[in-house]
Amino acid sequence: MRFPKLFEPIRIGKVTIRNRIAMAPMVTQYCDRGYVSEQQMAYYAARARGGVGLIVTEHVLASHWAEDNCPLNVMGLYDTHHMLGLAELVETIHAFGAKTFVQLNLGVGIQGSSLRAGLQPVGPSAVSYRVPAEMVPRNCLEPFAPFMVGELPREMSIDEIEREQISFVKAAMMARAVGFDGLEIHAAHGFLLSEFLSPRFNLRTDRYGGSLDNRMRFLLELVRKVRAAVGDEMALGVRLSADEHTPGGTTYQDTCAVVEQLEHEGVDYLHVGDGCFESLKYTIPDQPGSMIDEAAGFKKLTAMTVVTPSIHDPAAAEKAVSDGMTDMISLGRQLIADPDWARKVRDGKLADITTCDRCNRGCFARIFQGLKVKCIRNPESGLERYNPQYTQWQVRQRAIERRAAVIVR
Ligand SMILES: Cc1cc2nc3c(=O)[nH]c(=O)nc-3n(C[C@H](O)[C@H](O)[C@H](O)COP(=O)(O)O)c2cc1C
Repeated sequence: MRFPKLFEPIRIGKVTIRNRIAMAPMVTQYCDRGYVSEQQMAYYAARARGGVGLIVTEHVLASHWAEDNCPLNVMGLYDTHHMLGLAELVETIHAFGAKTFVQLNLGVGIQGSSLRAGLQPVGPSAVSYRVPAEMVPRNCLEPFAPFMVGELPREMSIDEIEREQISFVKAAMMARAVGFDGLEIHAAHGFLLSEFLSPRFNLRTDRYGGSLDNRMRFLLELVRKVRAAVGDEMALGVRLSADEHTPGGTTYQDTCAVVEQLEHEGVDYLHVGDGCFESLKYTIPDQPGSMIDEAAGFKKLTAMTVVTPSIHDPAAAEKAVSDGMTDMISLGRQLIADPDWARKVRDGKLADITTCDRCNRGCFARIFQGLKVKCIRNPESGLERYNPQYTQWQVRQRAIERRAAVIVR
């Protein structure tokens, strides 16, 4: 095998994963106003069938309030009815041999919009964002225009912080109940939890603002509460932006200090991200491997498993893992372009891979137009529900079970 390290199993906490390839969380807008759709199940089934070891779901909102503030069509897990579709989604992914972690988010914070429910956005402080045109990812300027300047948010009260933490812990318990193997707390990319970490967006003078210790209090309290609620059977991870790349924002040094504390709290893995809403070009990079040096720095600092996105080239991915710069890679856009990337790499069929050219036209640009994710290089993307290979796994599984029963008899 040409890429032995990529296909070595790995343990995160108590969860064993068949290889070092994860699907990175990506909003799809396939859900039906927060509930899992048939299309979504088929889309994830295709990626699990395509050989990745782990699927981290798109971000899932952990409170009603978070959803009311969110301008996009994002999945929810704050109501027991959300559990129905999510349980089926987990079952589907497991049927194809992959593990799955849910990415839970406490909301988009100051990126929120009153357009949705007439509510003023909330954040750590009354600081609005402003996106310089040169920081908008490639080919996204036009669809992004309505979101270039944020509305003036209001500061969250301590009661609201505590209420949101309770909602998050309930979501975590529901995630465990539906069978997710792990849970990733989304504290990256300028969303609410990362805004609390940021000296640019958090100007509070109470115990949740000021020093870095205070700014990370919200996240660390949450980590402790979640771990106490779900136990250690579930893998627990946190996604952090290595650097906010915005004036006055969180620096790499700040993030290193947060990473040390997360390890101290018993977090199992770190999913590397980058940038914030004001520097989205770093979150959705044009260049491969843009986060690998930061990831390698984290690896020196912590024994937590480190997962690094945006290395689409198999040889570069193998090298990054075998050189110890990261423990796992996560693929985002490359897996929309080709759900079978992992299988093709394992079988040495590299020429068959449909490569992602990081154009963002079908994926990232569309979500800001209220459209569902697609890839202009993959005609099946967004239409996976019509492919019986992804939707009729239950039928096949039952047939296999019937055959096994006959043999046993
Ligand atoms: C359409 C789209 C949606 C995304 N949604 C999320 C998300 O829900 N949560 C998250 O942490 N990152 C999200 N990301 C960032 C990806 O997880 C990933 O880090 C980034 O796209 C870089 O990796 P790539 O080059 O493999 O795409 C999203 C990216 C794209 C393109």
